[in-house]
Amino acid sequence: MSEPKSPQVTCPPLVERTPRQIVEELDRFIIGQDKAKRAVAVALRNRYRRECLPEDLRDEVVPKNILMIGPTGVGKTEIARRLARLANAPFLKVEATKYTEVGYVGRDVESMIRELTEISVRMVELERFEGVREQARERALERLVDLLKPRPREAAPMVNPLQLLFSGAAGQAPAATPSPSETADLEEERVELRRRIREGELDDVPVEIEVEEGLPSEIQIFSAMGMEEMGVNFQDLLGGLLPKRKKARRLPLSEARRILALEEARKLVDSDEVKREAVARVERRGILFLDELDKIAGREKGSGPDVSREGVQRDILPIVEGSTVATKHGPVRTDHILFIAAGAFHISKPSDLIPELQGRFPIRVELDPLGEEDFRRILIEPENSLIRQYQALLATEEVTVEFSEDGLDELARVAQAVNQQTENIGARRLHTILERVLEDISFDAPERPGSALTVDRAYIQTQLQDVLQDQNLSRFIL
Ligand SMILES: Nc1ncnc2c1ncn2[C@@H]1O[C@H](COP(=O)(O)OP(=O)(O)OP(=O)(O)O)[C@@H](O)[C@H]1O
Ligand SMILES: [Mg+2]
Repeated sequence: MSEPKSPQVTCPPLVERTPRQIVEELDRFIIGQDKAKRAVAVALRNRYRRECLPEDLRDEVVPKNILMIGPTGVGKTEIARRLARLANAPFLKVEATKYTEVGYVGRDVESMIRELTEISVRMVELERFEGVREQARERALERLVDLLKPRPREAAPMVNPLQLLFSGAAGQAPAATPSPSETADLEEERVELRRRIREGELDDVPVEIEVEEGLPSEIQIFSAMGMEEMGVNFQDLLGGLLPKRKKARRLPLSEARRILALEEARKLVDSDEVKREAVARVERRGILFLDELDKIAGREKGSGPDVSREGVQRDILPIVEGSTVATKHGPVRTDHILFIAAGAFHISKPSDLIPELQGRFPIRVELDPLGEEDFRRILIEPENSLIRQYQALLATEEVTVEFSEDGLDELARVAQAVNQQTENIGARRLHTILERVLEDISFDAPERPGSALTVDRAYIQTQLQDVLQDQNLSRFIL
C-alpha cells in the first residue's frame, strides 16, 4: 500500500458504535420509527467502515445519502438531533429553507460546508486541548501567580525606548534591586499562592485579566450545532483579518484560570495540524443533515417566493454530488460527506425535486404516522419524556404530580382524536394537550408547596371539557 498523502484518520474500533448500539441509543429517546433508525445507523457505521479501507478503494466508496420522509411531528428532526450526539464525527443540521440562490440576499449553500468545517475544527481542537490540558493549566497558574505576586522586574539591561514611551507604569525605571531576603520572602509567598490556587481556595476571588475578544470556548462546539439559528458569523468574516483585540475583564479566579488555560492550550497545539486534520475529518466523516428539504421542492417557474426554490436545489446539487468548497481552513472536498435529508413531503413529493437531486438520495425511508399507542409510549418512555419534564419543573415548586394509568390512556386518546379531527401534527399534539391539562397547576404551584396531584382521566376531562366540546376552540387551543 502506498503512503497516504493526507493525514491518516485513525480507525478507533472501541469508540465506534455498531448499528445495533446506535439504534439502542436512539431508542432511548425516540419511539418506533425503526426503519429510519436502522438506515441512519447503517449509514453512520458505513462511514467508519470506509475509513478502514485501503486508500484506493476508499475513494471509490461514495456515501449512500438518505431521504427521510414522513408526516410532521413523527420524529425526523428528533432523530437528527440525537444522531448528532452519537455521531462522533463532524455533524451539522441545517434547514434547507434558510438558503437562497446565489445572487439573492441570504445564505449561500456553501456556507453549510464552512460551518461543518468549523465544527470539525472545534472538535479536533478540543481533542488536542485535552492532550495538553495539564500543561496548559499549569501555565495558566503561573500566569496568575505572576499577575498577583509579580516578581520585581528583572534589572532590565536594555529597555526598548518604544516600550518606555508606550507602556506607562511598566516603563518606570526598574525599582532598586531587592535584597536577597526580600526575594526569598517573595518566592515563599509565590509558593503559598500557588498552593492556594491549586487547592481552589481562591476560586471566587476576582482578578482582572486581559482576554482576547471573541476567544472561542468549549461552549462554541455546542452552539455550533445550533448555528443555523444565527445569521452570518461575523467572527468568521473578520476573524482572519483583524488582529485579535485584547480587553481587560474582571472574573472569578477559577474562570480566569480556565480562560488563560485555553489561551495557553492554543499556543501549545499546532494549529496547522488541527486544520489539516479537521478538513480531513469533514471530508471523510462529515454528516450534513438537511432538514425541511420538502420546502424547497418544486420546479414551478413562477414569480414570488418560489422563484429561488429550484435555484437553491441547483446550488445544493454540486455540493451533494461532490465539489470543492473554499473555507477559512482550506479547500474542502464534499464527495464523501454523508447527506441525510428529511421532509414531510405532504404537499410536494420527492419527485418534485429536480431529478439530479432525487438521484443523489437513493435510500428512502418512510417514517410512520403515530397513533394512540405510540403517544402513550412517547409520554412516558423516552428519558426526556414530556411527563418527566413537567414533573421535574413542578418539583422545583415542591409540587408532586403523578399520572395514573387511565390518565395516560386519556392523554393519548385525546391526542389521537384531536389529530384526527383537526390537523395531524403528530407527537407535537402532546405538548399542546399537556400544557392545557397542567395549566392550572402550573399557575397555582408556587402557592401550594408540598401538595400532590394525581392526573387521572377525570381530572383531564375536567380540564379539557370546554375545549373538547367545541371543535373550533380546539383548533385554536390544542
Ligand atoms: N417517535 C417519536 N418518539 C418520541 N418523541 C417524538 C417522536 N416523534 C416526535 N416526537 C416528539 O415530537 C416533537 C416533534 O418531533 P420532530 O421535531 O422530530 O418532528 P418532525 O418529524 O421533524 O416534523 P416536521 O416535519 O414538522 O419537521 C419533538 O418534541 C419530539 O420529541
Ligand atoms: Mg422537523
